[in-house]
Amino acid sequence: MELSEGLMTRKSIRTFLSKDVPREIIEAILKEAHMAPSSSNQQPWNFHIITGEPLAKLSASIREAHEKNYKPYDPSKGKTIPALYVERTRTLFRELRPFLKKLGEENRSFIETGSLCFYNAPVAILMTIHKSLPGNRLMDIGMAAQNLMLAAHARGLGTCAIGLALLYEDIIRSEAAISPEFDIALIIAAGYPDSESPVNEFRSPRDPIEPFITWIGF
Ligand SMILES: Cc1cc2nc3c(=O)[nH]c(=O)nc-3n(C[C@H](O)[C@H](O)[C@H](O)COP(=O)(O)O)c2cc1C
Repeated sequence: MELSEGLMTRKSIRTFLSKDVPREIIEAILKEAHMAPSSSNQQPWNFHIITGEPLAKLSASIREAHEKNYKPYDPSKGKTIPALYVERTRTLFRELRPFLKKLGEENRSFIETGSLCFYNAPVAILMTIHKSLPGNRLMDIGMAAQNLMLAAHARGLGTCAIGLALLYEDIIRSEAAISPEFDIALIIAAGYPDSESPVNEFRSPRDPIEPFITWIGF
């Protein structure tokens, strides 16, 4: 797959086949993720790969906590953000709705329940970063995460970044034995996409690029 084609065709996958991903493929993907640029080449990322019984147990623990003590999804994290960003979230959910209807699902429950069990993907990848590092080192994690998702895509795997499950970071930290010195930056669900699922037909929109760009000196 050409890089440009990969960039243009990658999308979040939210229904996976219950088919294991061979460890060699995960290793190859991680090697490519690890080639991401990072500030002063500090390579501040760590990958914790969870599958099988430990992943099922983690999902069950998160779901149980969610049922006991419901934490609502707030993409703005309580902050007042410019209306255009709120509108883009609304557009995403509005455009996703018809695809979920085909599944007989509502947006909120599908995204919430699905994210909290990593969309039943066979693999969940936790990316952690040392707590002492400055906040802008999350840039490096983002770059490695994008490499990882594209490397997976090039091998016919689907991924979905999962921030929502971090509402239950304590549970994830304990089940995955994450050292207290590290923060969990992001989780990526990965597996073979279920090509028959209507939700995987969905492609999230992008606003036209022009207003995002300021040309200087051209
Ligand atoms: C940091 C981050 C966190 C995300 N968290 C979630 C999540 O918890 N659940 C989910 O379904 N999608 C999540 N996503 C996926 C976004 O909704 C998705 O990337 C966006 O709608 C653009 O769609 P695309 O990935 O298909 O291009 C997350 C993406 C990022 C970058």
